[in-house]
Amino acid sequence: MTDWQELESKYYMQVAVRTPVTLVRGEGARVWDDKGKEYLDFVAGWAVDSLGHCHPVVADAVAKQARTLIQTSNQFYTIPQVQLAELLVKNSCLDRVFICNSGLEANEGAVKLARRYGHLKLKGAYEVITTINSFHGRSLAMTAATGQEKLHKPYSHLPVGFMSVKYNDIEAIKSATTEKTCAVMLEPVQGEGGVNVPDDDYLKKVREWCDRKGILLILDEIQTGICRLGPLFGYELYGVEPDIMTLAKGMGSGVPIGVVLAKENASVFAAGDHGSTFGGNPLTCAAACAVLEYVIDNDIAGNVKKVGQYLMEGLQKLKQKYPFITEVRGRGFLVAIEFDSDMAQDILMDCLEKGLLVNKLKPNAIRLIPPLIIGNKEVDSAIGIIDGVFSGIVK
Ligand SMILES: Cc1ncc(COP(=O)(O)O)c(C=O)c1O
Repeated sequence: MTDWQELESKYYMQVAVRTPVTLVRGEGARVWDDKGKEYLDFVAGWAVDSLGHCHPVVADAVAKQARTLIQTSNQFYTIPQVQLAELLVKNSCLDRVFICNSGLEANEGAVKLARRYGHLKLKGAYEVITTINSFHGRSLAMTAATGQEKLHKPYSHLPVGFMSVKYNDIEAIKSATTEKTCAVMLEPVQGEGGVNVPDDDYLKKVREWCDRKGILLILDEIQTGICRLGPLFGYELYGVEPDIMTLAKGMGSGVPIGVVLAKENASVFAAGDHGSTFGGNPLTCAAACAVLEYVIDNDIAGNVKKVGQYLMEGLQKLKQKYPFITEVRGRGFLVAIEFDSDMAQDILMDCLEKGLLVNKLKPNAIRLIPPLIIGNKEVDSAIGIIDGVFSGIVK
């Protein structure tokens, strides 16, 4: 039998911290490894496989479009791109759409748009305020935007024009705002940085401040968008409307895509200001249209709300039972379990052995980010496995 992990160590750049399992097939919330072992997947491609693995509507849309038209460049009009843009505009508070290929690329586009806005309408303001423990992507500019020092260090000198302030602290944003500020960029709930949920009125206060100063509010909904927190977009939870929003992960249910959306007033790119060779191609747009239509037609928002609540209740019961759990937090299907010591890796490996995939968020926390289509049955299975793992921990 081929040892794929051995071959990976020989040929692939050793950038990923991998869990020692080679996945070969997926269906719904389940995946199988190369030895035929089945797992319940509460990682979902890092919050990407919104409809689970290989959902028929996605597979059919990709197959049909792959036989029709895959790539044309944006020199030409293509139909799935326009259909996706229309769907997004009709179902959000934003007015215009630009489609690219990944989360970081969407954020780069959003920041470029905010800078363009600053040049045109704010006397050249260019600085973007972000938050500590944010995560916005891995390009040089998005590394600079990301408020995590440890990610900056290996790559000095990073692009200028970003500053990170404390999350969930409106005064920190106020103090950092100067005449050079063109935008504030935030995740409605910080994902990679720890599943950090802000106070209910934080985003409203940020919105009010941005309005007062005439600067833009960019919401990075790459992880929180497409029902991850419950509603279609995270901003709906907090009763605010961004000027610019970015989407990626759940949008294509596995097909790579990034999206920048903007209010008409903030949509200041002119022809030639921005672009992408692959961005908005018929193949990815057909897949994303299929995902979005399915999500809307099947009330996936309602499912995440209901089953997310059930998941949270189950985890809170585990917290009562095991004193080494210090906190269970999150919204919808973006949930973290934090421990009193660095035991996340051991827990991940024990869950793996028992047939459940989880994500290590920090040395002392795991994250659960299942497909959005799961029901109480899958939650019961996952909680049963986690309970079994926790019960084996001797403290
Ligand atoms: C909030 C947020 N923004 C941006 C990104 C970067 O997305 P990508 O990995 O597709 O570039 C991520 C990825 O985890 C993310 O969670």
